[in-house]
Amino acid sequence: MTTELRTHQARSRVPADEEPTLTWIRAVVLGFNEPEYSDEGIARWLAAFVDQDARMRGVHDPRTGGLRDDRVPVATLGSWDTTVNVGGTLLPANAISDVTTRTSHRRRGLLRQLMTTDLTEAAQRGMPLAALTVSESGIYRRFGFGPAVQANQIRVRTDASFRVTTPPTGRVEMVDRDVYLDRVRALFDDYHQRTPGSVDRGPAADDVLAGLDQVTGKPLPGFRYALHVDDDNRCDGAVAYKLLEEDGTAEIRDFVAPNPAVGVALWDFLGHSDLIRTITQRRARVDDPLRYALAEPDVYTVENRRDFLWLRVLDVAAVLTARGYLTDGEITLSVHDEQDFAAGTYRLAATGGTGVVERIDDHSDDNADVALDVAALGSALIGGVGVRTLAAAGYIRGDRVEDFARLMVCTGSPASITPF
Ligand SMILES: CC(C)(COP(=O)(O)OP(=O)(O)OC[C@H]1O[C@@H](n2cnc3c(N)ncnc32)[C@H](O)[C@@H]1OP(=O)(O)O)[C@@H](O)C(=O)NCCC(=O)NCCS
Repeated sequence: MTTELRTHQARSRVPADEEPTLTWIRAVVLGFNEPEYSDEGIARWLAAFVDQDARMRGVHDPRTGGLRDDRVPVATLGSWDTTVNVGGTLLPANAISDVTTRTSHRRRGLLRQLMTTDLTEAAQRGMPLAALTVSESGIYRRFGFGPAVQANQIRVRTDASFRVTTPPTGRVEMVDRDVYLDRVRALFDDYHQRTPGSVDRGPAADDVLAGLDQVTGKPLPGFRYALHVDDDNRCDGAVAYKLLEEDGTAEIRDFVAPNPAVGVALWDFLGHSDLIRTITQRRARVDDPLRYALAEPDVYTVENRRDFLWLRVLDVAAVLTARGYLTDGEITLSVHDEQDFAAGTYRLAATGGTGVVERIDDHSDDNADVALDVAALGSALIGGVGVRTLAAAGYIRGDRVEDFARLMVCTGSPASITPF
């Protein structure tokens, strides 16, 4: 099949000037079986791409037989530069999204071609990491991505048995959408700085999480917004939630609590809302303190736990140097990488919380204490999956797995509230 991979970046916010972007968006909408976007929805999508300086990659198949528009790609992948919090350091990362292949062209290697091109260019730009979220979990390990941050879907019963035992701090104000959007920006930045696993996001993402319908480009009805304010009148937490019509249920769509203790105070407010008997939240921290702050922890149910963020290490030395270490130690790692970006043997020496990484030229498992594939390194990097677990699953081998496990321990679980 003679196909052509094209990459472009949008420069204008005027849809009429951006024909390749509009046809690319059409392909993504088709690929995800989404409804037709309105002009306003497309204009917002375009504006977000301009702000992100996003790369739109598409595979075009010129053999249309006169039956389809060749300007619309048959496979797509979008990417942009962002940052991921790795142990407190905001590390540059290549974010990947909008991965689709038209049903008529699937399983012919188009995703592989797009992904290989995108990762190669990311490595050439010096990106130490790539990141994505998945709709299907079986696809990305083969490209070196490992599940790195988990998130819980929770359901909390907010009837008379809901009671937070810790004394409430500060106060909560219900606010309009505009006020919420104005405050949530700075709160997210604070969250991003403080939270290992967090992926940066822009105002367009805030807007969608606060109820902007991407298809129509208009705010959805039924949203409520609340801000937590500390005793010095500083805003330190925010929640956007949607009231569902049926049975007194509310669904949290965005929950920005840079300090998890403020998250408990926000829940204390939400849990005492009249007429709401159940509240759900999709991206709750796996180490959510709320569960343990409740007088009856049974009102809190984890309905689903999933691998939310996947990381692909491109530069081993950069990522292992960025994170901190709780213990001193030295270990030699042999990293396997089918795509070769990160393959090699590396000596990691941690002292006083800081890691120094040296690449050893002679690459062989014989020279290493531990051998692992690059996806396992992505999983272990910020403590999302423990080294022992990865070893038991068969991804990490060697005589010093226990020492490596001790070296990679982190104080808390990573978290992220950025879908992309
Ligand atoms: C997922 C999707 C993009 C795959 O595209 P594709 O062009 O058919 O993929 P390729 O032919 O390049 O396949 C590359 C590899 O991934 C594997 N693969 C592809 N789709 C897979 C899936 N859904 N589950 C598991 N493995 C998958 C292929 O078997 C192939 O493996 P191999 O190279 O190791 O033999 C496509 O099926 C699609 O658009 N699905 C709907 C949208 C979607 O779910 N996108 C992903 C968002 S996370």
